[in-house]
Amino acid sequence: MSPDLSRFDRVRAVRFADSVVYLLDQRLLPAEQIELRCETVAAVAQAITDLVVRGAPAIGITAAYGAAMAARQRLAEGGDFHTDWQTDLALLGAARPTAVNLVWAIEQVRNACAGLSAEDVVRVAQETADEIARADLAANYRMAELGAQLIEAGSGVLTHCNTGSLATGGLGTALGVVRAGVASGKVSRVYAAETRPWLQGARLTLWELMQDGIEVQLVADGGGAWLISQGKVQWVIVGADRVCANGDVANKIGTLAHACAARQFGAKFMVVAPWSTVDLGTASGDLIEIEQRDPNELLSYRGTQVAPDQARAYNPVFDVTPARLVDALVTERGVIIAPDTAKISALAD
Ligand code: MRU
Repeated sequence: MSPDLSRFDRVRAVRFADSVVYLLDQRLLPAEQIELRCETVAAVAQAITDLVVRGAPAIGITAAYGAAMAARQRLAEGGDFHTDWQTDLALLGAARPTAVNLVWAIEQVRNACAGLSAEDVVRVAQETADEIARADLAANYRMAELGAQLIEAGSGVLTHCNTGSLATGGLGTALGVVRAGVASGKVSRVYAAETRPWLQGARLTLWELMQDGIEVQLVADGGGAWLISQGKVQWVIVGADRVCANGDVANKIGTLAHACAARQFGAKFMVVAPWSTVDLGTASGDLIEIEQRDPNELLSYRGTQVAPDQARAYNPVFDVTPARLVDALVTERGVIIAPDTAKISALAD
């Protein structure tokens, strides 16, 4: 019998109430739990850019609710509804470039509302956003089960960034598999890489897992290879911001290094991502736009400068792991071992 995973699913990144988007401010966690109230589409887009909410599925859900909120406001304004609302969708879609879930979710809303009256757009946009959130949660429970089945008893796992309830509609992608692996007794050791420079691993993944009562040890990003070489890690388990048609995977910077170490030292590398993260329109990883963020995110920490005056930094925040380093791609549609174009396209049909 599958373990009950709902006890591991305690927090929601996004809430839509009274036609307003509420976001748990992830910049402040774990020190403070404060929701940011976003009353305009510009505020929602800015919150996505500023990482108030982050994680590919969570930013998709947020954008969908932002679109629903915008529709209601545009109707109340009484201007040129359709033109103005399309401008809102474009603003949301430009908030971050790498995670395909953002534009995917906006396309879901746009397509569902095509040809409708303004009044119907208001209703259907919200229904579509609700459905995106519901389907993401359901996908995560399914992927948790499928991914955990790949893990042998007594395994150690290493995860990177935060892929839990905070990053999704709930439970998580890679973190859902880690949770299911622990619940089923297969995972004996959990390591989370700190994930410089925003520390999603240290701040968010540890916060989530410790609330679950799951034992987890934080490691420096560069420590992953050493742990793997020492036989402490049998599976590296990560999420994704975009999976290309050929199986190349964009994910948080540092993922590629773990994948290389896994292949070098005999551990396995698992990517867990809902189908909304699979981008059949992008043939391979070299075509993905990698988000570049402010160098100051590396040069200082919480306002304190850590590098010399005038120092320069290069701050791409995602990397691309080639498909040949991926041992398993877990989606809610099924598991692909050693993904490639043919196997992904077979699952797409
Ligand atoms: O910059 P972030 O925090 O949005 O990056 C998030 C990641 O890279 C996650 O691993 C990815 O979105 C998968 S979340 C289920």
